[in-house]
Amino acid sequence: MVSKKAAPSWQYDERSKAGVDYSDASIAADYDKQHARFRDFEKDARLIMQRIDLKPEHTVIDLGCGTGAFAIPAAGKCRKVYAVDISQAMLDRCAEKATAAGLSNIVTCRAGFLTYEHREEPVDAIVSGVALHHLPDFWKAVAFKRMYDMLKPGGKLYLFDVIFSFPVESYREKFDNWVNSMRENAGQSMAEETIVHIRDEYSTFDWVIEGMIGRAGFTIEQKSSDFLHCLTYVSVRSV
Ligand SMILES: C[S@@+](CC[C@H](N)C(=O)[O-])C[C@H]1O[C@@H](n2cnc3c(N)ncnc32)[C@H](O)[C@@H]1O
Repeated sequence: MVSKKAAPSWQYDERSKAGVDYSDASIAADYDKQHARFRDFEKDARLIMQRIDLKPEHTVIDLGCGTGAFAIPAAGKCRKVYAVDISQAMLDRCAEKATAAGLSNIVTCRAGFLTYEHREEPVDAIVSGVALHHLPDFWKAVAFKRMYDMLKPGGKLYLFDVIFSFPVESYREKFDNWVNSMRENAGQSMAEETIVHIRDEYSTFDWVIEGMIGRAGFTIEQKSSDFLHCLTYVSVRSV
């Protein structure tokens, strides 16, 4: 549910479109095809479910769910999934896919990290894939605190995002190599998206993210690198 109270005028506007415009219906329609060039959706979803130890009785929030890469397979394995995204176009694709899969335990909600109000019982896990980098750093810290409040004590936070772990002085070489690698592996349009990501979005360093996760009240249980310049953190909410 989106908060009924108007956000303060100083709050970061999550609907402002820094970087790739996921509110564009043509981008949403093409998303799965474009990403399938370099992602294995089924394998990735299985790995997430295993890492958060998803059980049939669990409830999960997928924040920045997009077209449902995780939300849909997860709904087939647990009690309920709250699929939250700031883009109606991405949510519409997610809802269409849920209907096609015969799933009735996905609740879609147009809201964001800073505006989603979870009015139900706290959940067992929150998953967020390649979405948090849309917030500038201060607002990422606010998002972590809000995610903490939506989780049960002992609940899991699974964060997968573009997060940098190279020494800052090597940024030119790292970014050139990244763009070239995306061009080779996923084509020119994904190389262009990578350029937009670097230039206009808010990916940050691992030591910044780790500080925020800890300060929000989580303990990092696992850190892994499954994809170039992407990191995964499995964290647990302290009791
Ligand atoms: C790269 S897509 C990732 C989608 C999906 N999680 C996946 O793994 O395929 C990024 C998603 O984040 C969403 N997004 C951007 N800013 C957001 C915010 N502040 N709150 C929630 N979702 C946001 C976009 O609309 C988009 O659907």
